[in-house]
Amino acid sequence: MSAQTTTKPPKGILLAGGSGTRLHPMTQAVSKQLLPVYDKPMIFYPLSTLMLAGIRDIMIISTPADLPLFRRLLGDGSDMGVTFTYREQPSPDGIAQAFVIADDWLDDAPCALILGDNLIFADHLGRQLREAAARPTGATVFAYEVRDPERYGVVSFSADGHALDIVEKPTSPQSNWAVTGLYFYDGRVREYARSLKPSSRGELEITDLNRIYLQKDDLHVQRLGRGCAWLDAGMPDSLMQAGQFVQTIQSRQGLLVGSPHEVAFRRGFIDAAALKFYAQRMIKTELGRELMKIASTLPQKDAVAA
Ligand code: DAU
Repeated sequence: MSAQTTTKPPKGILLAGGSGTRLHPMTQAVSKQLLPVYDKPMIFYPLSTLMLAGIRDIMIISTPADLPLFRRLLGDGSDMGVTFTYREQPSPDGIAQAFVIADDWLDDAPCALILGDNLIFADHLGRQLREAAARPTGATVFAYEVRDPERYGVVSFSADGHALDIVEKPTSPQSNWAVTGLYFYDGRVREYARSLKPSSRGELEITDLNRIYLQKDDLHVQRLGRGCAWLDAGMPDSLMQAGQFVQTIQSRQGLLVGSPHEVAFRRGFIDAAALKFYAQRMIKTELGRELMKIASTLPQKDAVAA
């Protein structure tokens, strides 16, 4: 069977390195992806997104200095019913380098990559993610309309909605559609990543990888609409906005946002006893009490797609 049509379950990569210079001095001693976004460390949010997609085999990639801190926070993943593998990125040589670092571990499985500072919230997000994860060939990226597209990878569309081009941080953007930091690839991603050359800024660019799929007419661009929030918490304002967003939803609706333990329970990765065990350790917090309530009141057979 070719890598392209592999039926292996998708793996996930959470990229949480970089130097966080846009958040200095907050990130001089602490990794950006460990900073709080309201009541949880930032990495919990993209981790929940991967788990919502049904992914249970996850590699965390970070700097040699920060990796032990992620290990201390997340452990082996058993309390969330997932398996974590940890790997160092010695220097921030580009997002697509994640696939070079993970090459042997990937072993031709399809793979989702999420950036550790990307927070995505939407109704029915779980369904959209599982659809992307189930697509047997090609790549899927998500596009989101923004006011300042020049800060991102930007995708332009033809009149009939087909993706025409993707450009990284264009000075004259052809559209307002930014490509978010969540990507799904088929088993060919290793081979394509190996073929990339560093860009003029010396990085293996994720946009170049996406362009390979686009040129083969194998890139699916899914547009996220009005009811969706995509935040990248990479600057003081966006970090603050992300925290306020989570606080607003949680206090108004009484629903948790970005709890990997809740997702694990709802997706059936762990049972009520395991969720209670974790919740008890957090019981002095609102988060712990909320998880305890979920574990005590929600019959797992009714644990719907979160
Ligand atoms: O957030 C979405 C955007 O992410 C996309 O629209 C762009 O196409 C993509 O290039 C990326 O742009 P950024 O300017 O946000 O990339 P940045 O270099 O800031 O890296 C994003 C995150 O990935 C950041 O939290 C640090 C981490 N990272 C980055 C690089 C280059 C690593 O862990 N290792 C790396 O080598």
